[in-house]
Amino acid sequence: MVRGIGLKVLLVADGAGVLCHTASLVTSLVRTGLTVRLSLTASAQVLVGPYFGSMLSGHPVLPFEELDENGLSGYDAILVAPASEKAIKEMCESPAWNGVRCPVLVGPGLLPKDDNADAWDELDATISAKGWKLIPAGIETCTMGALGELRVASTERCFEEMMVAIGKNDLKGKRILITTGPTAEDADPVRFVTNRSTGRMGVALARMAAWRGAFVTLIHGPMSWPIPPINAIRPVPVRSANDMYMATMELVQEQHIAILCAAVADYTPVEYSDIKIKKGQDATFALLLKRTPDILDAVGHMPGERPFLVGFAAESDHVHANAQSKLQAKNCDMLCANDVTKPGSGFAVGTNQVTVFLRGGEVRELPQMSKEDVAGKILDIVSERMSLQ
Ligand code: CTP
Repeated sequence: MVRGIGLKVLLVADGAGVLCHTASLVTSLVRTGLTVRLSLTASAQVLVGPYFGSMLSGHPVLPFEELDENGLSGYDAILVAPASEKAIKEMCESPAWNGVRCPVLVGPGLLPKDDNADAWDELDATISAKGWKLIPAGIETCTMGALGELRVASTERCFEEMMVAIGKNDLKGKRILITTGPTAEDADPVRFVTNRSTGRMGVALARMAAWRGAFVTLIHGPMSWPIPPINAIRPVPVRSANDMYMATMELVQEQHIAILCAAVADYTPVEYSDIKIKKGQDATFALLLKRTPDILDAVGHMPGERPFLVGFAAESDHVHANAQSKLQAKNCDMLCANDVTKPGSGFAVGTNQVTVFLRGGEVRELPQMSKEDVAGKILDIVSERMSLQ
């Protein structure tokens, strides 16, 4: 996981949202190694004890109303969430806030009486006009007793957008297409052929790329692993290998980088039965399958300019020989191979151990790491090969 060590951020919390939002947000940020200073508005301070903020962040709480030019300097990013309309207005009118040079993220919290599309549009316009970034609310709410449900961006969304704001930006402006997850090949309305992929490696790649400034198109099969709520990740859900092929070929033209790590089914049922296939008298049953399109091969051989192409290879034997031949046959710039029989490498585990094969013959063995760290290393190599560093 990319760490926030050496970086310093300010989190401002306002109003009653401090009760259900701030503790978990500070905890997530501190865990990345970031130095987090917490500032509370007067209306937030009356709701929590005097040690609430200092216990969480390890530093004294800074009163929001006293933040001047000095108090707002020295940060790598500032996040104001939840923010009431009153606090946003105060920020907009304050010369100190107008002088802030680091990224400022604002996650407004609206009570039901104020929560409508026009109010959000207006907030977006106000916040964008200052060069700040609005973090829109999702479906999550904080219960505010008699006041109702405060709708505010989730802790997870605020955390992810903060990591984007402090990211190293070496992939800024780059469009990356990633395929991930299994595909599902339907045989009838009830049955389908699939595999054990959870999509976690591709999601880690998408997340790390977004943190580094890229815009990611994530084409994914049916998978259980959650996609982080980051504005810079556009999920494109598909079902079958053919759907994934169609989506990839349509969207790949506009990309700088394509990383195809989906576990695409190589075969699909020859025929789809509209009605449920009934069991017969025989003790065995054969399902006839036909080849699916090879997406990596199609991108590798597409006419004209194509993106920097990274493939994956899941192997159980002869890893080096199989990977080298896939790299060449599918015309990739880089291929990441893993031995799925090794413990801590492969499906449904949090770690992976990959060997990277580069066009031109260079081979780099990466140690076993978390999938996020593997993703970070893969992106380092992509960035290096594209001379982005
Ligand atoms: N791949 C693809 N389309 C397919 C099959 C595979 O795009 N129909 C891609 C995968 O996303 C991966 C790479 O090809 O990037 C290698 O996939 P893998 O399953 O390891 O190998 P296959 O080419 O399918 O060959 P085999 O199953 O025989 O090892």
